[in-house]
Order: sequence, then C-alpha cells, then structure tokens
Amino acid sequence: MDYRVKDTKLAGGGRLRIEWAERHMPVLMRVREEFSKGKPLSGVRIGACLHVTKETAVLVRTLKAGGAEVYLCASNPLSTQDDVAAALVEDGISVFAWRGESSDDYYWSISRVLEEKPQVMLDDGADLIATAHVKDMLDEAIGGQEETTTGVIRLKAMEKSGDLRIPVVAVNDASSKRLFDNYYGTGESSLHGVLRCTNILLPGKKVVVLGYGHCGQGIAKMARAVGAHTIVCEVDPIKALKAYYDGHEVMPSLRAAEIGDVFITATGCKDVLTREHFMRMRSGAMLANAGHFNVEVSIPDLKSISRRVRKIRENVEEYELEDGRKLYLLAEGRLVNLVCGEGHPSEVMDLSFSLQALCVKYLMENRGELESRVYNVPDEVDRRVAELKLETLGVEIDKLTEEQQKYLESWKLGT
Ligand SMILES: NC(=O)c1ccc[n+]([C@@H]2O[C@H](COP(=O)([O-])OP(=O)(O)OC[C@H]3O[C@@H](n4cnc5c(N)ncnc54)[C@H](O)[C@@H]3O)[C@@H](O)[C@H]2O)c1
Repeated sequence: MDYRVKDTKLAGGGRLRIEWAERHMPVLMRVREEFSKGKPLSGVRIGACLHVTKETAVLVRTLKAGGAEVYLCASNPLSTQDDVAAALVEDGISVFAWRGESSDDYYWSISRVLEEKPQVMLDDGADLIATAHVKDMLDEAIGGQEETTTGVIRLKAMEKSGDLRIPVVAVNDASSKRLFDNYYGTGESSLHGVLRCTNILLPGKKVVVLGYGHCGQGIAKMARAVGAHTIVCEVDPIKALKAYYDGHEVMPSLRAAEIGDVFITATGCKDVLTREHFMRMRSGAMLANAGHFNVEVSIPDLKSISRRVRKIRENVEEYELEDGRKLYLLAEGRLVNLVCGEGHPSEVMDLSFSLQALCVKYLMENRGELESRVYNVPDEVDRRVAELKLETLGVEIDKLTEEQQKYLESWKLGT
C-alpha cells in the first residue's frame, strides 16, 4: 500500500482523536453499521480530497466499512492533522497528506489519488474534480460530490461552460448541511481559531465580518454572543438588510477598515481586503479568513506595503507597514478554523459526512442514469439525515395527520 504522511509513529494520538470524533458522530456511526451489513460500496474506488481531520477519518472508515477502497489527499495545504493521517494509514487507507504541503506537494497528492482511477470523487473546493478534468483522468469516473460553497460555484461554472463530464452531487447545498455546518460550525470554529492563535479578549472588540451568507451569519452571531461589537460588510442588499435587522452595524468595508479590531472574511470571493483597506486600518488589527481559498485577504497587497514580516506566534504573522503600523495576518490567510483550530465540531460534521456517505450510495445506485451536471442531494436523503440526528438527540417531533396532508396539497379550501 502506498502512502505519504508526516510520520506514521503519530498514529496513537490520531487513533484517540478519531475515537473522540466517533463518539460525537452518532448518525454517521449508524450509517456505518448499515454499510457494514449491506456492503453497498463493495469494490468501489473512492478518491477523496478533504480536510484530513478526525471527522474525515470517521467518514473514510465508514466508506471502507461499506466495502470501498479509499484514497485520500488534503483539500488545503495547512489543514491536515498529521496524527489522524498516520492513524488512517495504520487502518490500511492510502493517505497522501501532511500539514505544510507546498503548492507542488498539494497537486502531487491530488494527482497521486487520481492515478488510482477513482470511480467516485469526494471534493472540498473542487480541486480534485477540476484536476481530473484538466488532466483528462476521468475514464473510470462515475460521479463526484462537493462539500463546500466555493466548490459548488466552480462546478456549476464547469457545467455552464459545458466542461463538466461527470454527474456531481452538491452536498453543500443540502439543507441539513449548510444550515448547520456552514452556520453553526463555521461560526463557532472560526472564532475558536482566532482565539486559539491570538488569545485576545473578544468582548468589546470591534469584529468586522465580511460576507453575510451562511458562514458569515454564524460568525457574526457567535462574535456578538461573546460581547463583541459586530460590523457586517456585504455586496448583496438582501443580506445587508438581514444583517441590519439581525442587529449588526452595516457599512462599506473601507469605512469598517478604519474602526475594526478583528476582520474575518467569509465570502468565497477574492480581494475582499486589499491595500486600500490596509492603509486605513489601525495598528494592531487582525486579519482572518474563513472562506475556502486564501484569496480573500490580499497577501500580495499586504506584502507590497510592508517593510518587515515576522512570525510572532504560531499561525500569526506580523506585517509592519512602511509607516510603522502593524497588522496581524492569521493562518496565512487560509481557513482560520482549520489551520488554527481543529475545524468544525464533530457533532455538526456528523450531518455533512452522513450526507456524503449516503450520497456515494446514491451515486452507485444510480450509476449510468445521471447526466453530467450538478445535482442536489435527494430530498429524502437530506430529510433522513436530519431525522436521524433528531433521533440520536432524543428529540421527537409531530407528524402531519392525513387530513392535514390533504389540506396542504389541495387548493380548494379557502376562507
Ligand atoms: N471555514 C470553513 O470551514 C467553511 C465552511 C463552509 C464554507 N466555507 C467557505 O466559506 C465561504 C462562504 O460560504 P457560504 O456558505 O457562507 O456562502 P454564501 O454564498 O452563503 O455567502 C457568501 C456571502 O458573501 C457575500 N459576498 C460575496 N462577495 C463579497 C464581497 N466582495 N464583499 C462582501 N461580501 C461579499 C455574498 O453576497 C454572500 O452573501 C465559501 O468560500 C465556502 O466555501 C468555509
């Protein structure tokens, strides 16, 4: 078995971490039980490009329990938990991932996974699926699945330009994913990432959240909950109005640049904070990103106006500007929650990764029937995951009566 990880001797620590995650992912463990019995993925080769975390390990072990062969690489050069990667190798999974990969290493690992001719590709950001298309390595591909907003945007662009050659399920867009993972998960873990690498006191700080989508709403809500003064910057009038009525201050980013203490981008867009913003910021301002790629805070701009850069703490770089002001970039502008912390809590990844596992089964069951386009997660899978989560939480809900069901489906009854 081929693999490349930092150090296989780290496996013991990784094993404990995975055990902890398994305890907090009861839905996925339920799916694993089902998969172990029915072996619905028997002999299926899966290539996965995901953050190599303890939660991903629980997913990978579930796919393996279903009979799949899994080849795993990282979806971000800095998010791999090396001990988890080592533990997965001990489990017989081919992992090609280590924390601190260079750009060449990152694409080498993706290509290495593609050499195994995966039939199903699980992606987070669409680098695996896009590379498979560019390198024409799709001969045996049956379909793909995408975990995050940015990846879905890229795949829809591929579909629109006629370049997409396989069916892809947009796992991100399922309600039981983005209403929970993106909102609560990113909200909590991004703040945790900021706190973990800076150890600042958030109450009273002016926290500027750029992008008020699913992730940004979660981040702003959590920041306010601990007593921060929250400011939101948006480009979409509806989202801006929502932020206003949610009680956040709303203003253009150039104005927010003058007053913010901590800036967190969550837009999926590029150049959200640039030279113009940095030139207005107060000395000591901190810059973090929760969006998928490291393009939201313009690092080239930051470098171009700095006379000195030094690492002042783990995952914190101090940029000293020509006029002596100092700005602090966290996590090299990459996902602050995964680089400075452990990523989303296992409880919330339980939903996202149960969807991933069940969607692989769906793709296999519908093999040859789907077109080369981006599909939504089937409604019954989406609802089933939420139902199972409620069940494992011990929460019961009501059911529509037959009469109510009929009433909701008919147009005849009015006042
Ligand atoms: N950190 C994580 O673990 C994590 C988890 C889930 C998603 N993500 C990533 O976070 C990003 C946002 O995801 P989402 O689900 O919130 O997307 P979303 O589409 O729900 O929200 C993005 C918001 O950003 C706004 N926006 C776009 N460009 C902007 C700009 N230049 N300035 C200000 N606002 C702008 C949009 O109007 C939109 O409201 C994506 O890159 C996604 O892949 C990260």
